[in-house]
Amino acid sequence: MAMARTTTLLLIVAAALLAASCGAWEMNIGMPGTVAAVDDAVVAPLIHALRPLLGSGSHAGMACDSWRLGVEAYNVRDWKTVPASCEGYVGHYMVGDHYRRDSKVVVDQAIAYVDSLKLAGNGKEVWVFDVDETTLSNLPYYAKHGFGATPFNVTRFNAYAQEGSAPALPETKRLYNKLLSVGIKPVILTGRAEYLRASTATNLRRQGYSGWMNLLLKAPGFKGSSVAFKSGEKQKLQDAGYIIVGNIGDQWSDIIGAPDGARTFKLPDPMYYIG
Ligand SMILES: *[C@@H]1O[C@H](CO)[C@@H](O)[C@H](O)[C@H]1NC(C)=O
Repeated sequence: MAMARTTTLLLIVAAALLAASCGAWEMNIGMPGTVAAVDDAVVAPLIHALRPLLGSGSHAGMACDSWRLGVEAYNVRDWKTVPASCEGYVGHYMVGDHYRRDSKVVVDQAIAYVDSLKLAGNGKEVWVFDVDETTLSNLPYYAKHGFGATPFNVTRFNAYAQEGSAPALPETKRLYNKLLSVGIKPVILTGRAEYLRASTATNLRRQGYSGWMNLLLKAPGFKGSSVAFKSGEKQKLQDAGYIIVGNIGDQWSDIIGAPDGARTFKLPDPMYYIG
């Protein structure tokens, strides 16, 4: 009797949920018209019972979306690989329209910021760009290696980088060209190893980047973190009298180390984490 009643309620609630295309979260906070008649105390255990039916577990798009938000907001840190259940989600995000749209929002904001500046025009104003997943996109590489769901292999990645075949991230190129047009000098600052200088420069030129002031790579033997490396290089720029008016990268480690620049812009990257 009690079992039958529970099953009936379960089916009614499931039907209401599916009809309203809403998840347990909306239900819990009270969607008008769907669950108002169902007592909260009854609903709570049903949410748990419905979870497998509605696919709101770790395999659902919703959970991966929340994970990605956690990554972008720098709440999720020090992660090694994309969760295995999110490989498909990250792949769709990267290859589909979503990644490009998110990147466009970042660059539109950066360009609006540039337009708002009163520039001194003294040749001392610079903008720091990262390389991987910023000026260049390694999507062709990551598409073959699980979109970050398989452990990073530095040997294999460096072999790919040495080909110099990575496409530009078009949004970043738009910002880059904008900065050149207003006299802000691009400084390219990458955690790539010094021995990749020629292939990186060639790759950038092939993709239409030119006129950078500096291309700074990690010296052999540098043992510190990415933050330590990048903040050290930015400090040298500042000590030489340059003003970092902006800074853009796909990793928080690109932008958090002081001096971070007058404004920083974080491009999306749900494929890997560099601390
Ligand atoms: C990394 O890639 C290289 C080159 O493809 C391969 O020889 C090596 O076994 C890989 N390392 C790991 C840990 O998978």
